[in-house]
Amino acid sequence: MIEKSFVMIKPDAVKRRLIGEVISRFEKRGLKIVAAKMLDISQDLAKEHYSEHKEKPFFNDLVEYITSSAVLAMVIEGDECISLIRKMVGATNPKEADLGTIRGDFALDTGRNIIHASDSVQSAKREIALFFDKSEICPYQMPDEHLIYEG
Ligand code: RTP
Ligand code: MG
Repeated sequence: MIEKSFVMIKPDAVKRRLIGEVISRFEKRGLKIVAAKMLDISQDLAKEHYSEHKEKPFFNDLVEYITSSAVLAMVIEGDECISLIRKMVGATNPKEADLGTIRGDFALDTGRNIIHASDSVQSAKREIALFFDKSEICPYQMPDEHLIYEG
């Protein structure tokens, strides 16, 4: 089943010039980037995006982190890509993330874990709608799609 996930490269990774490294992993896997934009997240958008965590002790630090500087927001498409991208991203605490995952290879601290990815179909729908207008999502065919997918 082809899905769309919301993926965001967080301020620490943008500042560390890791955008290319991270995007390149998704591209090499065969996933398709169908929307992308740099933005400075407002306090309101950050609070809405992470509203599931509003009662948590780390909520204020999380909002401060994510609004501290520019992020790259993306919509990525592919077969069952929501769970696949979560696997590629790795555990929330980078010290526990497997080597070979994005957090396991590039991050050390939970509060600086460089990337966000939707954790379910429902979250993906909600987050994509929060960050992107429908007109900003650009479908296209990859000429090697038949080399990535059998059917
Ligand atoms: P994300 O939503 O950013 O993709 O991360 P996640 O699903 O792996 O983790 P989640 O539980 O949704 O937490 C959201 C972000 O909050 C920060 N956090 N800090 N200090 C802490 O215990 C703690 N726990 C979470 C992290 O930046 C995490 O990515
Ligand atoms: Mg999360």
